[in-house]
Amino acid sequence: MYLGGARGVMAGLRAAAEFDEISEVYDATREPLEASVVDTVASTLREWGLTNLLEVGVGTGRVALPLLQRGLAITGIDASGRMLARARAKGVPRLVRGSAYDLPFAERAFDATLFVHVLHVLEDPARALREACRVARGGAVGLVRPRSSRERGGGRPHHPRALVVEQLRREGIVVSDRARGGPPERERQLIERFPPQRTVVVSESDVTEPLAKALEMFERRASRWTLHVPPEALARAVAAARAEVGNATYSYHRVLSLALWDRAPPEREATPSEPGVDAPLSNEPGGVGPAGS
Ligand SMILES: C[S@@+](CC[C@H](N)C(=O)[O-])C[C@H]1O[C@@H](n2cnc3c(N)ncnc32)[C@H](O)[C@@H]1O
Repeated sequence: MYLGGARGVMAGLRAAAEFDEISEVYDATREPLEASVVDTVASTLREWGLTNLLEVGVGTGRVALPLLQRGLAITGIDASGRMLARARAKGVPRLVRGSAYDLPFAERAFDATLFVHVLHVLEDPARALREACRVARGGAVGLVRPRSSRERGGGRPHHPRALVVEQLRREGIVVSDRARGGPPERERQLIERFPPQRTVVVSESDVTEPLAKALEMFERRASRWTLHVPPEALARAVAAARAEVGNATYSYHRVLSLALWDRAPPEREATPSEPGVDAPLSNEPGGVGPAGS
């Protein structure tokens, strides 16, 4: 799928419209990165000699701001004007509105491009990585959540996203395939498909969270797919899912890694038409990582 030209513009416009709408609740529904994680990200990037960065999909500056405060040079680009306005209000100085598929910068203008919680929302992440490698001498870096060998297998029967989707289906509302699989699962598929040349773990922890936490994201229409569901139906589906999950919690082993693609994924590699299209319904709680979309 070629996403330059008109298709790239359309993908950017769609993302812009959706994230413009989400911008009001974005920071309230996503966790800030822990200070220790930002410290390790900043020191690892310094060790790699990558200090002048372009953050693609900079959003509200959730990540750019703490990295700036640690002395890295960051330029941010995003399709959504309202997400950028929030980043600007926080004091992120160098921001540009534009598309991940057509970066308005010269070849090797930066040390590296940075993607945090963005690759999984892109229609053609491989193309974005190729474009990212064009403008950076050191390649593209992603803060990603790889599959952990310590993760429990098997079913997690009360996955809140699946419950909401199923409830909507009972009402005759079929939601976008974007609702399939959580952001972490889509990101993992991408990493497996386009393995980075280098990966460093920046944080590892055992986390226990209420299953109902993901429901807040849906209730506040903070995930893209919820924007296309009638509000009353969404409220009913969330209420039904909340009754089912009750106070149950979910424990998992969370790994955050910095991945470096110093070579762009090959041009010939076919990419799925949309993230998550072929993925089975994931049992992973949506939106419980550093952020969820
Ligand atoms: C989930 S947010 C992540 C924001 C930030 N990196 C963070 O971690 O909080 C994804 C961002 O990517 C932007 N985005 C999505 N598709 C894009 C595209 N094709 N070109 C540029 N930005 C895009 C959205 O507008 C949104 O701000």
